[in-house]
Amino acid sequence: MNTNAAYVIVGASLAGAKAAEGLREQGYDGPVVLIGEETDRPYERPPLSKDYLLGKADRETMFVHPLAWYAEHDIDLRLGARVTGLDPATHEVTLADGSRIGYAKLLLATGSTPRHLTITGAAAGSVLYLRRVGDSDQIKATFATASRVAVIGAGWIGLETAAAARSAGVEVTILEAAELPLLRVLGREAAQVFAGLHRDHGVDLRFGVQVAEITASDGLADGVRLADGTHVPADAVIVGVGITPNVQLAEAAGLRVSNGIVTDARLQTSDPDIYAAGDVASAYHPVLGKHIRVEHWYNALHQPQTAARAMLGQDAVYDRVPYFYTDQYDLGMEYAGYVEPGGYDQIVFRGDLPQREFIAFWLSGRRVLAGMNVNIWDVNDTIQAIVRDAATVDAARLADVDVPLEEFLA
Ligand SMILES: Cc1cc2nc3c(=O)[nH]c(=O)nc-3n(C[C@H](O)[C@H](O)[C@H](O)COP(=O)(O)OP(=O)(O)OC[C@H]3O[C@@H](n4cnc5c(N)ncnc54)[C@H](O)[C@@H]3O)c2cc1C
Ligand SMILES: NC(=O)c1ccc[n+]([C@@H]2O[C@H](COP(=O)([O-])OP(=O)(O)OC[C@H]3O[C@@H](n4cnc5c(N)ncnc54)[C@H](O)[C@@H]3O)[C@@H](O)[C@H]2O)c1
Repeated sequence: MNTNAAYVIVGASLAGAKAAEGLREQGYDGPVVLIGEETDRPYERPPLSKDYLLGKADRETMFVHPLAWYAEHDIDLRLGARVTGLDPATHEVTLADGSRIGYAKLLLATGSTPRHLTITGAAAGSVLYLRRVGDSDQIKATFATASRVAVIGAGWIGLETAAAARSAGVEVTILEAAELPLLRVLGREAAQVFAGLHRDHGVDLRFGVQVAEITASDGLADGVRLADGTHVPADAVIVGVGITPNVQLAEAAGLRVSNGIVTDARLQTSDPDIYAAGDVASAYHPVLGKHIRVEHWYNALHQPQTAARAMLGQDAVYDRVPYFYTDQYDLGMEYAGYVEPGGYDQIVFRGDLPQREFIAFWLSGRRVLAGMNVNIWDVNDTIQAIVRDAATVDAARLADVDVPLEEFLA
């Protein structure tokens, strides 16, 4: 191995930028190369389906660091540069222009890519996906001219863009394969809350449907045909049917890959000099006792700190309770914990469900697996502690708003 080689980070988004920051914070003063195929410097994606899409936040607010930060911290930021190859034997990555960069340690922070539909008509114009800032610009421009859109998928992208569309005065039909929105993540009871929210804002929700074709005229989508023959007219179609992790480099290099790049709790892959963090990492979680891959902002924000420390040979383990949030219309929520589909026995609501001001807890037996605060604030740290401590609770007391949450800390 070339001992002068750099610490190289592939993927210049939230996880990549935070890893570069982490390396410097830990006192590493050798070369750091941060390589990203996008031409914008690292930015955060949550505003793309919320305040930026709504026109309430401008572009400058989304960047992870000011441009000057990279030079000030001697980060060699290479934008518009795609890594096409990884050779663990020679400790080199190859870029699309054929150049090679040697590494001492490598972090793969390659994130994920939207799944694309392959049905007839899917390649028509005005079939829109949302991952990058340019996608958000395009959807915002569409909202300015369209009178109705069809949204395929009632996951995070589908629901947040539907809310933005309604705020822009656009009619929305949501077409979802499952019986409810966010069903796999939240389960039936809490998913109903999101169905009700969108229904109350005038969204036409169609569940359990199979999308058969995107119809088009003059090359532009003009609607969606369902398997039962129903035609849903639309001026544009927004697709949010999930992502796939960008594992191609790792896979070709022979690293262990299984629903993401497999790492231990230190975020080290099956190659001792290669680490992974963010959406792409399937990391062993020591508290949960299994590998999980988390597709959320908080994970991409914090895992890189652990990866940076581990790359520098320090003791570091990523064991934070998974966390995510959403904002849709006047509903804001935070969720802490991890529950696999069907992995809970009961859900306990505490607060005012019809007013959408409540906390929900997912329980297995008497144990709290996860909690979600909806339009109630400053409680998520306590919820995280309850989940982390694997607290056992009395469900009736948990539902009682007069019993302080702190009582349920183990
Ligand atoms: C519209 C939107 C809204 C979201 N809102 C929320 C939210 O409200 N709450 C929440 O918790 N989460 C949210 N998320 C999820 C969150 O943004 C992701 O979990 C986070 O972006 C993951 O960060 P990452 O750095 O791991 O990967 P990514 O953000 O996917 O970045 C990976 C980067 O690596 C680059 N790359 C990939 N391969 C290569 C290569 N071979 N060479 C060079 N560069 C490469 C990609 O181009 C990309 O820039 C949202 C996501 C989207 C798209
Ligand atoms: N607030 C947040 O945390 C947030 C916000 C936006 C995006 N994101 C992230 O962005 C990524 C993409 O989000 P997403 O909404 O595309 O994925 P998702 O996995 O959240 O939801 C996909 C939805 O599409 C449905 N679906 C799949 N195939 C379908 C089909 N052929 N027809 C109809 N419905 C279909 C699924 O049943 C599911 O409800 C995820 O990683 C997500 O975590 C997160």
